[in-house]
Amino acid sequence: MLIGIPKEIATGEKRVATVPDVVEKLVKLGFSVAVESGAGDAANFADDTYRAAGAQVLPSAADIWSASDIVFKVRPPAPEEVAQMREGATLIGFVWPAQNPELMQQLQARRATVLAIDCLPRQLSRAQKMDALTSMAGISGYRAVIEAANAFGRFFNGQITAAGKVPPAKVFIAGAGVAGLAAIGTAANLGAIVRANDTRAEVADQVKSLGGEFVKVDYEEEGSGGGGYAKVMSEGFQAAQRAMYAQQAKDADIIITTALIPGKPAPRLITAEMVQTMRPGSVIVDMAAEQGGNCELTVPGQAVVRHGVTIVGYTDLASRLAKQASTLYSTNLLRLTEELCKTKDGVIDVNFEDDAIRGLTVIKEGAVTWPAPPPKLPAAPAAKPAAAAAAPKAPAHGHGPGEPMSAKSLAIVFAVGAALFWLVGAYAPASFLSHFTVFVLACFVGYMVVWNVTPSLHTPLMSVTNAISSIIAIGALVQIAPPLDAAGAANRPNTLILVMALLALVLTAINMFGGFAVTRRMLAMFRK
Ligand code: NAI
Repeated sequence: MLIGIPKEIATGEKRVATVPDVVEKLVKLGFSVAVESGAGDAANFADDTYRAAGAQVLPSAADIWSASDIVFKVRPPAPEEVAQMREGATLIGFVWPAQNPELMQQLQARRATVLAIDCLPRQLSRAQKMDALTSMAGISGYRAVIEAANAFGRFFNGQITAAGKVPPAKVFIAGAGVAGLAAIGTAANLGAIVRANDTRAEVADQVKSLGGEFVKVDYEEEGSGGGGYAKVMSEGFQAAQRAMYAQQAKDADIIITTALIPGKPAPRLITAEMVQTMRPGSVIVDMAAEQGGNCELTVPGQAVVRHGVTIVGYTDLASRLAKQASTLYSTNLLRLTEELCKTKDGVIDVNFEDDAIRGLTVIKEGAVTWPAPPPKLPAAPAAKPAAAAAAPKAPAHGHGPGEPMSAKSLAIVFAVGAALFWLVGAYAPASFLSHFTVFVLACFVGYMVVWNVTPSLHTPLMSVTNAISSIIAIGALVQIAPPLDAAGAANRPNTLILVMALLALVLTAINMFGGFAVTRRMLAMFRK
């Protein structure tokens, strides 16, 4: 199949959907790639670098749209682009189906298959490698700090120089989602004093780990609306939050706002009066400008000065770091293509059995398939409903999976266990009994520990089992080469014990080396 990459036509858009490195990998997956001449210019990828990577460079957008089986885009396509699209082709890029009903109709009319990268079920851990919203928000959060630094007339870090003492800049970040956390890390690395607030209390530790201080609103209300997103807060909370923000506005040099609840207009957090109380020369970067702005005085797409404060409302922050953004975005699309083409033969299969692909697909062969049903998530510890206490008791006989055993079944299990133990005790040698007791207790403790760990912690758990594995390895080695007896003669181990010890050693080795490999990969994710 031919993957086509047209030049982005939205005003000021500098990103390109595929970079030369990714072209090479797509060719290895069996695809042909065609790029519109000049598509990568604004992101510093010349036509020749695409040719060298194995793509053909076509002169016009019409050539790309009409020839491609699959089109990779960044921004949602304009009507004139859809008009040039080949009937039955596949489009992959940002689409925002809820905001663009007309575009959805046009794509449907072309019998297109559309994979909207913005509809990815982000809660699936398997989907993280394809999560372009996260990669773009991370870049935008970084760039927001750089824009703030550009408009701010002072250092971020405190300095003591011969010419005098410079205090560090104070940065306040509203909303600690993906963009907010990236902004916290960047501002803290530049040496500023960083404070942040979010309605979801669970992000407090993440704020701290990035070098920021979490500022709480003096009002008890949980802000989590599920799926890692916030909910609209009560009037009482909002009033308490406004009072806290007014305080922060007086103190901060820079405010970066990123607060958003998906599908809702951005919450108004910074009022005109708060801007007035800020010191002249201060800066506000309002990342939510496109959704109406977190600051009352923001002008979307522009940087304006109000009451001596520069208010930056750029809506193209990721595009302002075009090379980086294009590289990460195209890697997200490559990962998606790998999922679509597991056979590596240059043909994609939009498989609805795969939750991530199902979530992304908003139109399949001209039929709207959006919104997708919620994905099946791995079992997570479910919050116990308050009503559970009042729930009627289960019948005394039998129990369903996950339900606690009834007292009667528990008594039977214990009675049978005790009888078996008595039988073993009555007939087995005394030395066996002590080993057997340790074995039974170890099984019980191991079961309780492993089964009570949430699935998301299984990976770190696996590395911890390395320690246990080494005990098994030592035990097996002692069995294979037992110590000499009192006369100095070697004890030849029984063949059965030897075989079992060798087997234990092999299995343990797999567990240990596997554990180390997983730990290495986990650490590599955090290494700079
Ligand atoms: P996100 O959904 O990960 O984060 C939003 C955060 O705001 C959440 O942590 C949420 O709990 C918090 N929040 C919601 N209501 C709040 C309130 N009343 N007070 C305090 N916190 C509140 O979103 P993400 O990806 O971090 O994006 C942040 C914003 O940046 C969005 O508005 C997004 O559209 C925008 N954005 C702007 C770009 C630009 O070029 N200007 C580029 C990328 C994202």
